[in-house]
Amino acid sequence: MTTSFNPFSLENQRILVTGSTSGLGKKIALTCAHMGAEVICTGRDQDRLEKTLTELQSISDRSHQAIQADLTQASGRDALVTSIEKKPLNGVVHSAGISRLSPVRMITEQHLREVQSINVDAPMLITQALLKRNLVAPEGSMVFIASIAAHIGVPGVAAYSGTKAALLAMVRCLAMEVVKRRIRANCLSPALVETPLLEATATMIGSMEQERGNYPLGFGKPEDVANAAVFLISGASRWITGTTLVMDGGLTIS
Ligand SMILES: NC(=O)c1ccc[n+]([C@@H]2O[C@H](COP(=O)([O-])OP(=O)(O)OC[C@H]3O[C@@H](n4cnc5c(N)ncnc54)[C@H](OP(=O)(O)O)[C@@H]3O)[C@@H](O)[C@H]2O)c1
Repeated sequence: MTTSFNPFSLENQRILVTGSTSGLGKKIALTCAHMGAEVICTGRDQDRLEKTLTELQSISDRSHQAIQADLTQASGRDALVTSIEKKPLNGVVHSAGISRLSPVRMITEQHLREVQSINVDAPMLITQALLKRNLVAPEGSMVFIASIAAHIGVPGVAAYSGTKAALLAMVRCLAMEVVKRRIRANCLSPALVETPLLEATATMIGSMEQERGNYPLGFGKPEDVANAAVFLISGASRWITGTTLVMDGGLTIS
């Protein structure tokens, strides 16, 4: 017997995914399209952006859009928000982010500013611009990709950890501010997931094989995070707001 019951469906939903030229954001964008959504993808790299758009179009014939923008620049954020104008979003996933490694005694002001600018300021300023223009539909859902780094101490990751912890705290307040319109805001805190960001870290520190041994379920895959993002965007999570889902393959309980 077949049934159309699917509380995770994103049919007829319009969803913006930042950082969708690579890694988690790209997988989230493609998975949203598979679940029936119209997707707006965005990143800085034009070639990879076009590739994401082509893949979205091969999944469905919805009016997917690609907007090139550097989200650390006001002009880039304006271009993105303007392109959404007049058609509110049902979901927003903030996945654009960078990781930089440095022990605190070597940290530079530029390092602090760089991670803060894309990991915290950009998602908050985009959220502000969308809310000011009523571009998040009632019952919409906003998902912020934080990190396990916000919950545990790892040497060399202080600046990055601080940005992700800031997201968790800000999203709790944001959730309270938008709840009157039944808009929800939540974070996902993944541990290590196999993406280009992880490969870059492995190149910097040599190898991640020793770290892999600390994960009872192994490192995550982009689809693990994408499936969780779909849950948090969809009506299946309609009673969940202001919280963070830690997804770490058992790292922090082992
Ligand atoms: N991978 C992991 O193990 C892991 C674990 C926990 C949390 N996270 C978080 O998950 C998010 C995605 O990470 P990922 O692994 O998917 O990284 P990734 O593969 O390096 O992708 C990062 C994305 O962010 C975009 N981006 C970076 N700077 C930008 C800027 N100034 N303006 C606009 N877009 C920008 C990049 O687009 P362009 O290159 O086109 O500019 C790219 O699409 C990040 O917030 C990261 O902190 C990752």
